[in-house]
Amino acid sequence: MSKRFRSQEWFDNPNNPGMTALYLERYQNQTFTREELQSGRPVIGIANTGSDLAPCNKIHLFLMDRIKAGIRDAGGIPMEFPVHPIQETGKRPTAALDRNLAYLSLVEVLHGYPIDAVVLTTGCDKTTPAQLMGAATVDIPAIALNGGPMLDGWWKGKRAGSGTIIWESRRLLAEGKIDYDEFMNRACASAPSLGHCNTMGTASTMNAMAEALGMTLPGSSAIPAPFRERMAMAFETGKRAVQMAYEDLKPSDILTRKAFENAIRVNTAIGGSTNAPPHLQAIARHAGVELDVTDWQTVGFDLPLIVNVQPAGTHLGESFYRAGGVPAVMGELLASGRLHGDIMTASGKPVTEALNGARSEDHDVITTVANPLREKAGFVVLSGNLFDSALMKTSVISDDFRTRFLQDEVFEAKAVVFEGPEDYHDRVNDDSLAIDDHTMLFIRNVGCVGYPGSAEVVNMQPPDALIQQGINHLPTAGDGRQSGTSESPSILNASPEAVVGGGLALLQTGDTVRLDLKSGTLNAVVPDEEWQARREAWTEPELEHQTPWQEIYRANVGQLAEGGCLELATAYQRIARNLPRD
Ligand code: FES
Ligand code: MG
Repeated sequence: MSKRFRSQEWFDNPNNPGMTALYLERYQNQTFTREELQSGRPVIGIANTGSDLAPCNKIHLFLMDRIKAGIRDAGGIPMEFPVHPIQETGKRPTAALDRNLAYLSLVEVLHGYPIDAVVLTTGCDKTTPAQLMGAATVDIPAIALNGGPMLDGWWKGKRAGSGTIIWESRRLLAEGKIDYDEFMNRACASAPSLGHCNTMGTASTMNAMAEALGMTLPGSSAIPAPFRERMAMAFETGKRAVQMAYEDLKPSDILTRKAFENAIRVNTAIGGSTNAPPHLQAIARHAGVELDVTDWQTVGFDLPLIVNVQPAGTHLGESFYRAGGVPAVMGELLASGRLHGDIMTASGKPVTEALNGARSEDHDVITTVANPLREKAGFVVLSGNLFDSALMKTSVISDDFRTRFLQDEVFEAKAVVFEGPEDYHDRVNDDSLAIDDHTMLFIRNVGCVGYPGSAEVVNMQPPDALIQQGINHLPTAGDGRQSGTSESPSILNASPEAVVGGGLALLQTGDTVRLDLKSGTLNAVVPDEEWQARREAWTEPELEHQTPWQEIYRANVGQLAEGGCLELATAYQRIARNLPRD
């Protein structure tokens, strides 16, 4: 196979010996030889997202050897480089702020260095979309490799899932049933090994999305981090990246509208995270694919939930993998005619061929479309005078919640409004708010611009007194997000957010609100003249930035419904082509 690769513009350009010499001498001093750099073989970048600050992805430090071995085995030259760390639970004010920063720096690396194809090492929530967005913008051959979920956590004989054990323990603490030490011990029990969250939170969801989009090898995303199959997958992915460089199989060949429709359907079937819509929207926009938040209802609502993994179910990542993982889910959907089978994947094969007849190996964990855990399990997209769009994850609505709040699918309540998570924590137990089961909790100023970055805070826990009466969830809504591990049926990702003048900014504690799931609306029941007067009295708040990036981000970011992208960046597409300027 002879082909002139982009990296030869650096390492073998007889028209510019001066620059070629400069490039060669410095890459040689790290043990690459001139012979190999001028061999005409492809340079395969490996975007390493693992570090001490990014524990969810730290497994990649150990997978590097196998990825590089695979690249060598197929005749490529591996070059590893670091990615700005994004750690979901450790980064203040929120990891979401850094998705676009990691995206931006990856675009510069992929565009500006001698890289012919890239292995994207994914894992923790935002590391996956950040890199798929970057690869889509630059459009060189790219393949994603998940680090894999942690082993299943266990606490006193019961599965302890990432995040889910936190929400449960918070309630038990509020009820006085556990103390501080037990809370900490329960939390740590959910994290028994290297890897990312073992629930179907945002990490497992986004890696399932990468696989459903066709950006990984089949079966890649669900293998638990410590399993030997994970090492083997790292080797195979490295090999495949080299072949993709020769085939020039680029994100633009894979990330089509049909691929996004497949991903949306898989998201419903797995009971995936409410963070998937903004991330997929961002990937689609950088790939130049038309997608809209309403597609989540039109394409995705009518599908069944078939995966029994927390938070929508009971199992965790190990069982999901053993039941067949994402290929089994896709196989079940394909067999029922719910998936496009004719589109290309990173494997070099179309979906149907790549799946190779995969079906569920354990119907307790992955069931069938004919016998689902829940019918019509996708997201409902709501609108009204409080926002143009917001999402509700229906697969986590418990029977108790439905009976208590959503009989006839309509709920009228008194609004209690919090100005952010600090205000919520300060006041939620304040008796004067008189929060009862005819209350809906609202939180605002927590969207992309407001927070900044959009915070995972909409799944607000009821006051302690209500929890002690057995009310574990109240209806909640807000312009932020919530953890993908939350089992709360919140109304979230409201766009436009309050600080840019979304209707949520005009809501007041004491207003009546009406949620109507049949018509897909949530409205403040406030007379038009009064609403208009509030609009006229509203002024844009002063925002306080803590870092330069926060200011840059706020000045350029769009709304969650549009993917929370740096708006100006969406104009740059397939930029690998126009190179020189050495
Ligand atoms: Fe990183 Fe969940 S916190 S994967
Ligand atoms: Mg999260």
